[in-house]
Amino acid sequence: MSKKIAVIPGDGIGIEVMNEALKLIEAINEHDSFQIEYDVFDWNSDYYLQTNRMMPKDGLEQLQHYDAILFGAIGDERVPDDITIWEMIMPIRKSFQQYVNFRPIKLLDGIDNPLRHHVNKPIDFVLIRENAEGEYSNAGGRMFEGENRELAIQNSVMTRQGVTQVAEFAFSYANKHGLKKLTNATKSNAIIHSMKFWDQTIESVAEKYPTINYEKYYIDALAAYFVQRPYDFNIVLASNLFGDILSDLGSAIVGGLGISPSANINPEGNYPSMFEPVHGSAPDIAGKGIANPIAQIWSLALMYEQFDRQDIHDKILAGIQNVVSTKKVITPDMGGTATTNEVGDAIINKLYKK
Ligand code: NAI
Ligand code: MG
Repeated sequence: MSKKIAVIPGDGIGIEVMNEALKLIEAINEHDSFQIEYDVFDWNSDYYLQTNRMMPKDGLEQLQHYDAILFGAIGDERVPDDITIWEMIMPIRKSFQQYVNFRPIKLLDGIDNPLRHHVNKPIDFVLIRENAEGEYSNAGGRMFEGENRELAIQNSVMTRQGVTQVAEFAFSYANKHGLKKLTNATKSNAIIHSMKFWDQTIESVAEKYPTINYEKYYIDALAAYFVQRPYDFNIVLASNLFGDILSDLGSAIVGGLGISPSANINPEGNYPSMFEPVHGSAPDIAGKGIANPIAQIWSLALMYEQFDRQDIHDKILAGIQNVVSTKKVITPDMGGTATTNEVGDAIINKLYKK
């Protein structure tokens, strides 16, 4: 069995952590019959400065033929962030209907638990963020610029199909993985049109899954519960904006951006899904060789899971867990002194003992 993927390292530490993921792919190719072939695309801020585009005109068509996309991070002070995001990440997510953003929130053994004073139970849940519509729409505009009556309007767009399909994914994922409870992040007490519709649509999907306990919380209270009792969640389903905020909060309670992975999934498999760390290009540490490669490597593990190789996913995660709990080879963000390269090698050595 083999798959062909597109690799976009991007900018800054994106390039550094991607090197480690590629080393791991090579090691797995060497030891397993499942083969991943890849093509590397240099679409990043340098490319933009040379061509005035983040990717070629036919960039999406080029990517469309791959089985998946492995992405690093983009962002560079020479290019405005809204250009890098809206001309690269957003077109990929939206055109390839990657309407599920999947983020494991799992506290590994050996990670200093920032909530240790009151939480000593395992933290292990999945956050599913609606990734294609909702609050991140460009419906809206500004009027009367510079005048006293100036105003700006930004609309949320929630569609029956959009909300239903992300809810279907979340409930069926819960079902498949034996997760008992699904928590809906909402704000239908204050946002009375779109969020009420969100709740009702999710509830109509929930009825089809009577064995999964369904609950809903307002986003403000839920943010507090993430800190007070994060062990209490199995799967959390959130809109685009709420999910964006909850995923950074979720990442903070399990050890930070250096280890947080994500997947942008097109569940139907009509288009490639994209796997990327939650973090950005980290200009403050780029070029120093000290970025933590775990988020990128964990994102690669999610890709193997999507390719139905749960065993390879589990093996990579066990390798990460082992390196983290031994605490010998960890990067400065986790309190160590190791380099990106050393952590990558240590994980590979755990998988295939040298
Ligand atoms: P960031 O995630 O790049 O960095 C935030 C902080 O976390 C920094 O102190 C950084 O050093 C640290 N950090 C992040 N990843 C790390 C890792 N693997 N190991 C160790 N420390 C790590 O977010 P920031 O600074 O807000 O954005 C920097 C650039 O990245 C911007 O241009 C932004 O637009 C872009 N960005 C791109 C994303 C993407 O490509 N999907 C996502 C988030 C930001
Ligand atoms: Mg974010």
